[in-house]
Amino acid sequence: MENQNLSSYYRCPSNIALVKYWGKKNGAAQIPANPSISINLSDLYAETKVTIQHGNVSGLPAFSFLLDGQSKNSFHSKIETFFKRIWQEFEVVRNFHLHIESRNNFPHGTGIASSAAGFGALALCICDLEQQVTGKVFPNFEQEASKIARLGSGSACRSILPNLVEWGEHSEVSNSSNLHAIEILKPEKGNGFPLMDIVLIVDAGEKKVSSSEGHSLLDANPYSEVRYEVAVKNITNLIHAIRRDNMRSIISIVESEALQLHAMMMVSSPYYMLFRPNTVAIIEKVWEFREKSSLPVMFTLDAGANVHLLFPELYRTQIVNFIETELLPFCQNGLYFCSATGAAPVKLN
Ligand code: PMV
Repeated sequence: MENQNLSSYYRCPSNIALVKYWGKKNGAAQIPANPSISINLSDLYAETKVTIQHGNVSGLPAFSFLLDGQSKNSFHSKIETFFKRIWQEFEVVRNFHLHIESRNNFPHGTGIASSAAGFGALALCICDLEQQVTGKVFPNFEQEASKIARLGSGSACRSILPNLVEWGEHSEVSNSSNLHAIEILKPEKGNGFPLMDIVLIVDAGEKKVSSSEGHSLLDANPYSEVRYEVAVKNITNLIHAIRRDNMRSIISIVESEALQLHAMMMVSSPYYMLFRPNTVAIIEKVWEFREKSSLPVMFTLDAGANVHLLFPELYRTQIVNFIETELLPFCQNGLYFCSATGAAPVKLN
């Protein structure tokens, strides 16, 4: 078979949202209820290689999946759903058995979400293989990859683009779309950017509630419409604050967004709480340190207990010193990861 052993190999970073995506539009495939903004975590990434093994006439997606060299059944159904969603448009998925090998450069089971990086890398490989197999050329390759990455995991669509990234229709963001993410701004040096992100590992355990369940609880949450409106305003305000170099305003939007994400979990039915006592202890320490030092350091949270500390690269020495002297006791096994932000995915050989 002529296409046998064709392959594609990509590195794709994970991302962290500054304005959160939490809630999907009813009845649509992975359409966000509100727009979001994120930055990629350049040093925390997935590397994925997809190889065409042989033909597939089963009429169903056919693939094998290895994570760090080991077969991982728990990911099977998410990948299968992804392939079913792109089945009509992608010949490479319809006609071939695909072998997927993936690895993350951060240890598994640290509570760092890997699905954005993983589906980002997989989407890039699939788009590349589709071009190789059919000879077609996607006029906007990144946009196509972002579109399908969204169908694997919503937030994955943002990992495909560099710098400041936006996903979801917004009247004041030109070219914004619910279907794919766009790069909106390359913040100037001196605008507080580039930021560093240090992820403090508070709880390395598996998430107690999957993000799909979390999103769906917003449908019946009495506060959700208000939350969506606030997110829209925060997009406008965050873009203005970054353009005007207003660090005080950037900090207040980013921290408020993190707390709103968790507040929405606490007012869902059933309600739940993903942060831990050490999450709160770290946040209080950060507020105290910022007050005393006047350094522009802020926290954000993902759907878990870990804390992301964001700060301009310029202050790295002082912030690492603060973490090592005051925050390590709150981290599980003293674990944290340090990353630059804003990188684009890379095609590997
Ligand atoms: O991509 P999903 O469906 O796993 O959603 C994740 C959403 C958050 O990470 C909690 C927030 C965000 O905008 O990334």
